[in-house]
Amino acid sequence: MTRFTEQERSAVYRAMRERRDMRHFLPDPMDPKILARLLAAAHQAPSVGLMQPWRFIRVADAALRERIASLVAEEREATAMALGDRAGEFLRLKVEGVRECAELLVAVLAPDDGTVFGRRTLPEEMALCSVACAIQNLWLAARAENLGLGWVSMFDPATLGRLLAVPAGAKPVAILCLGHVKAFYPIPMLELEGWRRGRPWQELVFHDTWGNSEPLS
Ligand SMILES: Cc1cc2nc3c(=O)[nH]c(=O)nc-3n(C[C@H](O)[C@H](O)[C@H](O)COP(=O)(O)O)c2cc1C
Repeated sequence: MTRFTEQERSAVYRAMRERRDMRHFLPDPMDPKILARLLAAAHQAPSVGLMQPWRFIRVADAALRERIASLVAEEREATAMALGDRAGEFLRLKVEGVRECAELLVAVLAPDDGTVFGRRTLPEEMALCSVACAIQNLWLAARAENLGLGWVSMFDPATLGRLLAVPAGAKPVAILCLGHVKAFYPIPMLELEGWRRGRPWQELVFHDTWGNSEPLS
């Protein structure tokens, strides 16, 4: 466990800064060795009480992928309806790359194994946060491998769970589109398309009590 060099440090920050949620993919297949590296990186994530509640299902079957794409299309329509005035604008956005990406992974929250350590007050949230940590590891590692990843959350979890035969108590939480890309978006695609602007971190950091903003000194 040695110290990071200046160059290594800047590479880590660069991966975070230049990670993007990708929705456009090239058809080129992915090297299975790289996929294994990414899944190993995901597995190095922290987890509450070392619970490791993540499971990843690699969807290789073309018919299954097609059914997942239809499920996402259905939820996209429902989202548009729920958006009211902005429905048309939303429908012009690309919100997934399920059919095009080289690899399709589904991240699943495993059935509760009864871990108590760190989970007495927020049991489901802490397990879910742990899965999110694993996904973020995968996302950053993918960026460092020059591969794009897109997190798709538009699906009905019960239907997706049935399609993937997940056991009772397990819940699919993310469809992850992974693969080669022509270029990474320079800024979040939702900003590029004028959907929403992100806020600077300084606005979201408070001192002592909620809402109390002071510059760091
Ligand atoms: C929990 C979660 C769910 C998301 N679901 C979707 C989704 O269903 N469709 C989509 O296009 N992007 C989805 N995103 C990506 C966000 O829109 C994206 O992270 C955000 O706009 C910032 O862009 P960036 O990741 O490129 O920095 C999701 C991201 C997270 C963290």
